[in-house]
Amino acid sequence: MEIIRRKTLKEKPAMDNSLGFGHYFTDYMFTMKYTAEKGWHDAKVEPNEPKPFDLATSIFHYAQGIFEGMKAFLQPDGSIAVFRPEENWARMNRSATRMCIPNFPEDVVEEGLETLLKLEKDWIPTAPGTALYIRPTIVATRVMLGVHASTEYLFFIILSPVGSYYAHGLEPTKLIVEDYYTRATLGGTGEAKCLGNYAASMKAGEVAEEKGFDQVLWLDANEKKYVEEVGSMNMFFVIDGEVITPALVGSILPGITRKSSIQVLRDKGYKVTERRISIDEVIEAEKNGKLNEAFGTGTAAVISPVGLIRYKNVDYTINGGKMGEITGMLYDTITGIQYGRLPDPYGWRKIIK
Ligand code: COI
Repeated sequence: MEIIRRKTLKEKPAMDNSLGFGHYFTDYMFTMKYTAEKGWHDAKVEPNEPKPFDLATSIFHYAQGIFEGMKAFLQPDGSIAVFRPEENWARMNRSATRMCIPNFPEDVVEEGLETLLKLEKDWIPTAPGTALYIRPTIVATRVMLGVHASTEYLFFIILSPVGSYYAHGLEPTKLIVEDYYTRATLGGTGEAKCLGNYAASMKAGEVAEEKGFDQVLWLDANEKKYVEEVGSMNMFFVIDGEVITPALVGSILPGITRKSSIQVLRDKGYKVTERRISIDEVIEAEKNGKLNEAFGTGTAAVISPVGLIRYKNVDYTINGGKMGEITGMLYDTITGIQYGRLPDPYGWRKIIK
């Protein structure tokens, strides 16, 4: 893989939890181009510097673009581990298909990522709760205003050393159930990781933040009845000892931390059910003292306890606003595998030497 070196390296920020999420970027990036004539080509690692774009470039107008979120962790033996990257490449190609973006060669981007990570090893923070966040993205780059799939694309991977996704770290989050706006509809793009999904969620997110909530808990678009996801996390509820997570009905992102959590929980003997779960069922369980725990899962959010849910102006506190036992066990297990503190019986750590 070609590497174009830069003359001077950037100054690094303090590599601790004050990093926040997505504020700093490393020295290099991976890029690869697509044209109808050449297909995907020109894969290389180059300095991460601003790129000039014509303002008629289609990504700016119709948001034909997709992304992924992954993390790299420095292991106790000094090697680098990426958590289940093959799952992200496969999901990204599924998102690409939904958004009329040509599928990309997964082996080439994996080689690009590994080259990039080896070059940027010093940017992997090691303080508790920190990691090197990986953001692979594809944007439509044809200069044209017609509403058609682009014939040119740019694939890039940028890296960002991050702390906790939520400013308050592992403190349980507060969610507000959104019963007016919707995140995704059946037949829409909810299960693709496309740019527009996130833009469409911002209005409700802003209102929620003004009211002092961390995130919005989305309901299904049709009936405003069933829990979908949070936008940056998939949701899990522990009701009477059973772990329930919304089924992937087509409008929910198929999270990789979600999938990993289901496997860990089942292997530890918990009953995990993937099914539609209504917000009324969650609230009823809370009222009857049967809602033991709630948590969200995601690459950025990891395993985040949920301490409070507001629905129709009433606040429901979960597990006394504290992290529950199952949530804590899952957090320890998933992060233990990621950071190399625990054995990896599933082969989820992709080790880069
Ligand atoms: C992730 O967890 O990686 C996400 O993409 C969620 C959010 C930061 C957009």
